[in-house]
Amino acid sequence: MPKIKFTIITLFQDALRPYLDVSMMWKAKDKGIAEFDFVDLREFGLGPHKSVDDTPYGGGDGMLLRCEPVFAAIESVKSKDPSAKVIIPTPAGDTWSQPMAENFATKGGHYIILCPHYEGYDERILSIVDYKISLGKYVLTGGELPALIMVDSIVRLIPGVLGGETSALVESFSDGDNIEYPQYTKPYDFRGMTVPDILLSGNHSEIKKWRSEHSQKSA
Ligand code: ADE
Repeated sequence: MPKIKFTIITLFQDALRPYLDVSMMWKAKDKGIAEFDFVDLREFGLGPHKSVDDTPYGGGDGMLLRCEPVFAAIESVKSKDPSAKVIIPTPAGDTWSQPMAENFATKGGHYIILCPHYEGYDERILSIVDYKISLGKYVLTGGELPALIMVDSIVRLIPGVLGGETSALVESFSDGDNIEYPQYTKPYDFRGMTVPDILLSGNHSEIKKWRSEHSQKSA
């Protein structure tokens, strides 16, 4: 059993797969820590055109995701795992944050991410949603990028995914903040920009002090 599983319901799984197939997300999958699954919303579409959207009652621009395909897609996943929780990315949701990512990483479990597209979704869809998440005060064309951002920021926190076992969860768990200080690698001198000498001193307590003095809270 993976620590965490995401089933992503989308019309555009081709846009998501490449990111999850490389680097840390691939590694998490390869190690059996995370599992990524996809459900093609189109398969649950209505009529000969497998339609998933329609015009809004009361008028207005654009198309809205209809209830029937979305409910059918979610129910198809829940019929196999009733414990799965549903996340919908929406600009009207709670703003995503590092503590929220930590919470999901710690709890683990199975999350269905429903990626809306078009102008929006029928409000009744929210009746089967557990978490409404906004990535920030801007509007994207769909839920695919928010889905990737949520998955990435959660999965990297699970012990065993990043190289140093203490690098993510432990460090940021202490107070819910990520402490970031300037870091340098070779060469010592790059185009006249040199590395602060304290970092080459070998004096670990002084280095720790310097890092703490130069830290900025990033989350
Ligand atoms: N869908 C469109 N815009 C979004 C945003 N800012 N956050 C989450 N989902 C969205």
